[in-house]
Amino acid sequence: MEIIRANNYDELSAKACELVLQQVQTARNSVVGLATGSTPEGLYQKLIEAYQNGQVSFKDLTTFNLDEYAGLRGDDPNSYRYYMNDKLFNHIDLPQNQAFLPNGNAADLAKECRDYDKQIRDAGYIDLQILGLGLNGHIGFNEPGTPFDSRTHVVELDDTTREANARFFPSKDDVPHQALTMGIGTIMESSQIVLLASGEKKADAVSKLVHGELTEAIPSSILQKHQHVTIIGDEEALSRI
Ligand code: F6R
Repeated sequence: MEIIRANNYDELSAKACELVLQQVQTARNSVVGLATGSTPEGLYQKLIEAYQNGQVSFKDLTTFNLDEYAGLRGDDPNSYRYYMNDKLFNHIDLPQNQAFLPNGNAADLAKECRDYDKQIRDAGYIDLQILGLGLNGHIGFNEPGTPFDSRTHVVELDDTTREANARFFPSKDDVPHQALTMGIGTIMESSQIVLLASGEKKADAVSKLVHGELTEAIPSSILQKHQHVTIIGDEEALSRI
């Protein structure tokens, strides 16, 4: 596990951007896994800038997002599809049909999950997966207790996770109770994983991820077993390791 210390959030985003550009410039038809939430917003801004400066084209890239809320349409401002369009996809030359997210509004969610795993497999698996980190150690929406060998599946969201994500909704009551998420097994099949963590409130989760016991109670602890993980954190997030 490599740990990169950034002095601040801007530097964290720049370092993450470097790794993604390295991947895409080495193999234009790369498959990159993406996350939503606050942490990767700076990375997406920097990828847009790199595209606008003519440094990179995403025409041959394929992306798979980690997760999506159940029951929200893609044009709902709280859906992750909307977030990705708004924060990244609408501003780069990535063809929309190469940008995958689970469809939270599918009639048969279990089938949608199986199909998503197949789409990832058919694309040749993920070359580089970006992850954020939940306060309870979740990755994607894999909450504590999720089996390490899980595939893409439907989850009941933890109360703490709904609380943490309520800031994006009018109120906590509006946060969906279910989501679709890549499984931990699916995530672990990525060739490279880059986890981003920013701020003091993530320090405990980062410390458990790096030094804690390998346990399904801390989903991110499985990353100790992956052969190519980079954690990029700012001073505050890395203050306890
Ligand atoms: C989002 C996701 C989540 C977040 C995590 C951290 O696609 O998979 O696991 O990465 O909840 O969220 P932020 O970055 O908002 O602290």
